[in-house]
Amino acid sequence: MVSFLSNKHFTICVFLLLCLSCQQKAEQKEPEADAKPELVMYKPSEMANFMNALYAYNLQLKHQIVNGEVPTTMPLDLMKLHSAEMSKGHQRTAVWNNFVNVFIESQQTVVDTLSNTELKARYNAAINNCLACHKTECTGPIPKIKKLLIQ
Ligand code: HEC
Repeated sequence: MVSFLSNKHFTICVFLLLCLSCQQKAEQKEPEADAKPELVMYKPSEMANFMNALYAYNLQLKHQIVNGEVPTTMPLDLMKLHSAEMSKGHQRTAVWNNFVNVFIESQQTVVDTLSNTELKARYNAAINNCLACHKTECTGPIPKIKKLLIQ
């Protein structure tokens, strides 16, 4: 009888242990589930998307200017530079804040048909402002941005 009882207890213990180990396994799986949002973060940030739009827009401006056309429209909402979320590791640093408004003004000046400054000089000034910020804030795209300059 005693041995039967202890056997029963043993069985219950084994059962409980199994349950516990199942639970542990379930817990161990959680970090994997957490890893998914990490992958999602490799998606380009709102700011990266906007930067790529800025790049595409300026490439189009370059073609227009080289072809002797006078661009008059600036379809991008440059205020997004103040609000767009940046990817991990990037933030609005003091350097960013120093450069961002200077850049916005120079980008708007490119399509200012009343300006007395030569179009190519205005355009290159805007691109040089991209580069000025990029020198410290995001060095990777610098070679690509340099190609936007009109020689
Ligand atoms: C005030 C600073 C600043 C200015 C001005 C600026 N950039 Fe950027 N740029 C950044 C930062 C910071 C990032 C990284 C953003 C992120 O990853 O969230 C970036 C990212 C980029 C990227 C990479 C996007 C990607 O896919 O990861 C390109 C291309 C780029 N910028 C082009 C330009 C061009 C072209 C201009 C000018 C027309 C410009 N930038 C003006 C700071 C700036």
